[in-house]
Amino acid sequence: MAVEVVSTGSCVPERVVTNEDLACLVDTTDEWIRTRTGIRERRLACGDGTSDLASAAAQRALESSGVDPSLVDLIIAATLTPDCFTPTVSCTVQKNLGLTRATCFDLWAGCTGFVFSLMTAHSLMESGAFKCALVVGAETLSKLTDWTDRATCVLFGDGAGAVLLISGRDSGLVRHVSGSDGARGRVLTAGGISARNPFHSSAPGDHYIRMDGSEVFKFAVRAMADSITQVLDGTGLSTDDVSYFVPHQANDRIIDFVANRMGIPRGRFYTNLERYGNTSAASIPIALDEMNRAGLLRKGMKLITVGFGGGLTWGANLITWTRG
Ligand code: UT7
Repeated sequence: MAVEVVSTGSCVPERVVTNEDLACLVDTTDEWIRTRTGIRERRLACGDGTSDLASAAAQRALESSGVDPSLVDLIIAATLTPDCFTPTVSCTVQKNLGLTRATCFDLWAGCTGFVFSLMTAHSLMESGAFKCALVVGAETLSKLTDWTDRATCVLFGDGAGAVLLISGRDSGLVRHVSGSDGARGRVLTAGGISARNPFHSSAPGDHYIRMDGSEVFKFAVRAMADSITQVLDGTGLSTDDVSYFVPHQANDRIIDFVANRMGIPRGRFYTNLERYGNTSAASIPIALDEMNRAGLLRKGMKLITVGFGGGLTWGANLITWTRG
């Protein structure tokens, strides 16, 4: 069964936090942040939960699709920052939008969550189990950020993006590749809740994002370049046939390295991280929605969405744009 991307939506919090604002919190400068990452500002949730941002992004994707909401039978939300352990973000989106027919689950794969979610939705729809899916990437990373750690707090932002998929004749989702390496997971962590019960207790840890920035940087360049190569393998397509690469928006310099290594003009990598920072699983669908609304996506274009993240995880989706 062919599966196509019908529409996109996104939502970012209103509150803009500039590099200068952060320079009032920690020992940093606008110049350091811009030259090392490309980020100028980010949006931070001040009262919005992950589910609120996810619901607004999903609503916009649904409205712009023209699809009858009662047809939505699957919602997958990629997030590593849910509002609570249960109900999940996807179930809350279902409730907020009244999509009572949908089966809902969250997918937890760090910043690669949206890439994995597209692959998962495609497989489930190809099998015939579902016909119309909302795939959302949504994060409020600001709650996992240590606002006293200048090495991490300048990087992250909050937001959500979504796509609506339908089964049909046109084949929009073409191919996916994915990978994981748990053995190297300690280079990028965010703590959780350790076992505590009447029979066992352990020292409480913190929940903040911690990372070995330069190790993550090297991994990211290799993982994204390899994923792009592998997703094109055997398709008869080369990177020249791909109109846009939509990478996980972590750091401009990571994207520069990938472009250089692969000999792909930098202009074919879409970036908006200067305005949003790294929004983890939300970064790719926010970028797709911006590109769509800006009229950059035309019928027949090939796109590659490509990401990396905690776990470690990585992957790519090859997409043919069937609308516009
Ligand atoms: O979704 C996945 C999330 N993670 C990533 O994408 C992270 C990938 N890694 C990176 O983006 C980069 O490694 C960073 C942007 C995090 C860091 O850039 P870098 O060029 O690797 O810097 P560094 O860690 O080697 O630090 C260089 C210097 C250090 O000072 P000394 O030891 O040379 O005196 C840091 O303490 O820069 C210092 N530094 C800062 N200075 C001003 C670190 N953070 C800051 C800061 N402002 N915010």
